[in-house]
Amino acid sequence: MMKGLKKWRLFSLLAVMTVFLSACGEEYISTLTPAGAVGKEQFNLLLFSITIMALVVIVVSVLYIYAFLKFRRSKQGEDYMPKQVEGSHVLETIWTVIPIVLLLILAVPTLISTYKFGDVAAMEQVDENGNKTELIVDVTAKLYWWEFSYPDLGIVTSQELVVPTGQKVYFNLKAADVKHSFWIPSIGGKMDTNVDNINKFYLVFDEESEGLKDGVFYGKCAELCGPSHALMDFKVKTLAPEAFDAWVAAMQATEGQTASKDSTDLGEATFAANCLMCHAVTSVTGVPGGAAMGPNLTTFGDRSHIAGFLEHNKENLVSWIENPEEYKPGNLMSGNYKVGNDGLSDEEISALADYIMSLSVEK
Ligand code: CUA
Repeated sequence: MMKGLKKWRLFSLLAVMTVFLSACGEEYISTLTPAGAVGKEQFNLLLFSITIMALVVIVVSVLYIYAFLKFRRSKQGEDYMPKQVEGSHVLETIWTVIPIVLLLILAVPTLISTYKFGDVAAMEQVDENGNKTELIVDVTAKLYWWEFSYPDLGIVTSQELVVPTGQKVYFNLKAADVKHSFWIPSIGGKMDTNVDNINKFYLVFDEESEGLKDGVFYGKCAELCGPSHALMDFKVKTLAPEAFDAWVAAMQATEGQTASKDSTDLGEATFAANCLMCHAVTSVTGVPGGAAMGPNLTTFGDRSHIAGFLEHNKENLVSWIENPEEYKPGNLMSGNYKVGNDGLSDEEISALADYIMSLSVEK
């Protein structure tokens, strides 16, 4: 009876753990389900370290329990005095050497991988025409959004990084204001973005993101940077190489695209009069209209989220435009932008939202 009860207790504990732990393995956001060569190798290192540490815990626990049971006073008698081993050279040597050996075993593969992941020499490689051979993305973290610029392709986007699968993608990481940290959990470990230097590393994206929840991998800011740190999310769309090339061509084709104050489209005219000074609607850099201090909106209609974390629909966009401070406290759009009595009318905001949602290079 007692035995059966115990078995059921264990069973229900496992069942409860399944419920809670099953959420840990979502493939679009979990370190535990890596989707790239870098992430997989880091995951293997993680397993390797945990195995060694678990072995230590098990061996120590067994020895402890053994000693605990064997040398009970009730068993050995009141006057039992165990063999005195203090100062034993043999024992001291054993428990000094074992940890050193374990640390060496841990250190060797960790160091090899660390140097490998930090090897960015290929970023300087050029072909016979002087073009870079590797894909390089400049990431700039800003209070509370992300800019992704492709210097050798002449294009820029924000909030949703787009990369090809099956090749190394090299990153130059920096911050525009305070320290942030760039992290795509399923793809690889995080790296800080600093104001005063550029950190470099590479990642590999093995899987196309199309079948995932929302069709993207999730990325996070992993360094406490202000009141909206937890909302400083970005997404990663991974495409097969041909699809990536088509996306690049579509991005480059937005050269010269702009919004006109004279447009008959109320949304476009409102955008031109109120938003264009901070938000570009062309992805091409280094041309008029290409530089902007706010997130580039050329691909807004293709994104999976608004402001990095809200569901992508017009209703949320209207609410965001009306009061961004309510959603992302401390963001730079708050307070610089008037709606209501002396600002935009409901009709203008609605048209503006329709216009922004229509911006796309994929449709
Ligand atoms: Cu940026 Cu946390």
